[in-house]
Amino acid sequence: MASAGIRSFLDALDEPAMVIDRGIVRQANATARALFGEAIEGKDVRLAIRHPQALEHILPAAAGDVEITGIGQFGRPWTLSIREIDDRMLLVRLIDRSATIAAERMRVDFVANASHELRTPLSTILGYSETLADDAEVDREHRAKFGSVIRGEAKRMLRIIEDLMSLSRIEAVRFVTPADQVSIAQVTASAVENARESKPQCSIRLDVEPDVPAILGDRAQLIQLLDNLLSNAIRYGCEDGDCAIGVAAVVEGNWIRLTVTDNGPGIPREHLLRVTERFYRIDAARSRESGGTGLGLAIVKHIVERHRGTLDIKSKVGEGTEVVVRLPIMS
Ligand SMILES: Nc1ncnc2c1ncn2[C@@H]1O[C@H](COP(=O)(O)OP(=O)(O)O)[C@@H](O)[C@H]1O
Ligand SMILES: [Mg+2]
Repeated sequence: MASAGIRSFLDALDEPAMVIDRGIVRQANATARALFGEAIEGKDVRLAIRHPQALEHILPAAAGDVEITGIGQFGRPWTLSIREIDDRMLLVRLIDRSATIAAERMRVDFVANASHELRTPLSTILGYSETLADDAEVDREHRAKFGSVIRGEAKRMLRIIEDLMSLSRIEAVRFVTPADQVSIAQVTASAVENARESKPQCSIRLDVEPDVPAILGDRAQLIQLLDNLLSNAIRYGCEDGDCAIGVAAVVEGNWIRLTVTDNGPGIPREHLLRVTERFYRIDAARSRESGGTGLGLAIVKHIVERHRGTLDIKSKVGEGTEVVVRLPIMS
């Protein structure tokens, strides 16, 4: 390949890439030069890449992939990819593994968190049921109390498992375009009705503009999204009688803008970006007490992503929270 051809080929790659010709850096793309120095072209590869482990593979032209650190930013993990172009030249690329490692860490954390969330109620159940089985003297009143604790904890486990199953069902259809004709007026009305039934003392206002069209969506998921947002508004924003929860839908260009608002305590800034993470809660005890699983907003986020929409949580401490979901009006 002519030099100019190699140059455009290397520049088209996002990752640092270079062609090594019998131990000399023949060409390097801009990202490789940013990493190893502007003047590496024409240099001996040992001077260009001062990394013993990388050189161990490049010098003998050992084609393959090696995981290395110690190049560029401290601790950044790379895959060093070495490929033979012909019997003289090698294509050497560095592929950043930070994102893959972060995703893997998230998966590991998720399994650890889920196990922990399930183990806590299970330990309580075991403890109480052992007392009931072993101690013949437990009086009626205590028996009833222990029984109700066991039931409560078992229900909590069931809610967590149902939410986990919901999450994985939504993830499973992530790339399947939702295909129901969904009337936003209908789904909001039905979600508001559910919420009113669950807590009649909360006042919930529903405002849907008359021209809001039906959209292509997944009806069950959209109801689940609204149920989750409304249950949060009720759970965190409706402690005393003086609460005002609102659900609204308006058309905004090619989008439907759905909002759920409350005038509760709000979400402090430092938590705002994290509340959609699985099992992230500001006050875990309070969430648990009121039947939360810590998965509600993660479910909401996944549903919004499946609908190619956007999710925006705005909140002022002491004033309230506004969750804005935009759904595309697709034909
Ligand atoms: N409307 C709201 N007002 C105040 N805090 C909220 C609101 N919605 C969510 N949060 C906070 O975000 C956390 C995560 O919400 P979510 O994922 O629905 O889990 P859960 O409600 O089961 O705890 C909640 O524990 C709560 O701390
Ligand atoms: Mg919730």
